[in-house]
Amino acid sequence: MSPVAVSMCVCRGVPFSDLLLRARAAGWGLETLMRETGCGTGCGLCRPYLRRMLASGETTFHELLWEPPG
Ligand code: FES
Repeated sequence: MSPVAVSMCVCRGVPFSDLLLRARAAGWGLETLMRETGCGTGCGLCRPYLRRMLASGETTFHELLWEPPG
């Protein structure tokens, strides 16, 4: 098993599992999730994980994901 385990937005202190529940309940896409929770708007490092979470339903990631800021 990879030593990497990414499971939350560290800047806001919110687990991806909570964010996925809220997003699914409200039908949020990434932009709305970011606007409503602030997650992904701090350092932005969780943004690729949020994107994949919304697409796949995963809430714990064992690899490092990166995307250019913007
Ligand atoms: S970890 Fe989510 S914005 Fe920094």
